[in-house]
Amino acid sequence: MKKIKTAVVGVGIFGEEHAAVYAEDERVELAIVCDLNEKRAKEIGKKYNCSWTTKTGDIATNKEIEIVSIATPDFVHRDAAIEMASSGKHIIVEKPLATTVQDAEAIISAAKKAKVKLMVDFHNRWNPPFVRAKEEIEKGNIGKPLMLSGKMSDRIEVATKWFKWSGKSGPHWFLFPHLIDLICWLTGEKVLDVYAIGKKEVLKKAGIDTYDLVQAMLKLENCFATVETSWILPSTWPSLIEFNLSVHGTEGRIDIDLTDQGLRISGKNVYNMPFISGKMEIYDRTHGFVPMPIKHFIGCVLKNKEPLVKPEEALLNVRIIEAITKSLQKGEVSFVKT
Ligand SMILES: NC(=O)c1ccc[n+]([C@@H]2O[C@H](COP(=O)([O-])OP(=O)(O)OC[C@H]3O[C@@H](n4cnc5c(N)ncnc54)[C@H](O)[C@@H]3O)[C@@H](O)[C@H]2O)c1
Repeated sequence: MKKIKTAVVGVGIFGEEHAAVYAEDERVELAIVCDLNEKRAKEIGKKYNCSWTTKTGDIATNKEIEIVSIATPDFVHRDAAIEMASSGKHIIVEKPLATTVQDAEAIISAAKKAKVKLMVDFHNRWNPPFVRAKEEIEKGNIGKPLMLSGKMSDRIEVATKWFKWSGKSGPHWFLFPHLIDLICWLTGEKVLDVYAIGKKEVLKKAGIDTYDLVQAMLKLENCFATVETSWILPSTWPSLIEFNLSVHGTEGRIDIDLTDQGLRISGKNVYNMPFISGKMEIYDRTHGFVPMPIKHFIGCVLKNKEPLVKPEEALLNVRIIEAITKSLQKGEVSFVKT
């Protein structure tokens, strides 16, 4: 069987995850990776045995490539996504789709015009506890959802050491996409308005002009939610993340806590709870909810099916976080266009 050719634009930390899936999945071939940073493009090209480039045009003009992952930093998805979609490539874009509603709408419109598939990588929809929670809610096991509360945070090194672009994003743009998508997906409801408070202190002192922490209240059609995010979890926090979500219903409650993923290691000098459920090599095969949505997207292209995450849901996600950002700046309730 002829293999579909694939490519990745932006092969930093997360783009490499996409490259690894394409290199391993027998249905496709990783043809080429692209990164503005030549050293990184070359390194990943060598590691996954494919071509590499620093110019997106080399992918756009290659007629054999059908699927392209966009994993550039949060605020620069637009140009690469539009260029690839307009060249007829099916695109899977990292979350958030964009950091402005205007950019998100432009990407969706380019994909619709070119009649290509577009999916945003909300990978927690493949994360087993959330999948089970959705099934329980749909079965009516906790009655009608009334109130949700969730936290998703990162240890401070994510903001201070991982990225040069932290000041152009923030915990709200980097982490809320997951929590907010889960809330909308689990309840099947739309967010109507938001009110948010945040603090810029620790990261600002380190020269990174973004929020340390944000707390937001969301009013949905028939329920409400509180979400909280921090980019300054202390470096001594035993896990890279803090991640939990509770759904209170009329007849029950669901609690999910993924901060501890079932493994605690008291090593010689460190107490650690490793992040293992997203991706793990087990006997030479990759398992976890990180590769699954990328594999799902390949299947959708092969079988001409609509991906599980709809472009409109990804746009609403951006609308909600843009409204949160406005509320943070103005100190008042911000309405979400639905
Ligand atoms: N799904 C998740 O849980 C998850 C986790 C981490 C990151 N992400 C998302 O993935 C995206 C990338 O994040 P990351 O952690 O890999 O960041 P990163 O900084 O490690 O990698 C981004 C890469 O893109 C390259 N780049 C920048 N502009 C480019 C351009 N115009 N063309 C080509 N390459 C370009 C950079 O040189 C860098 O190598 C972000 O949107 C982020 O939110 C998702």
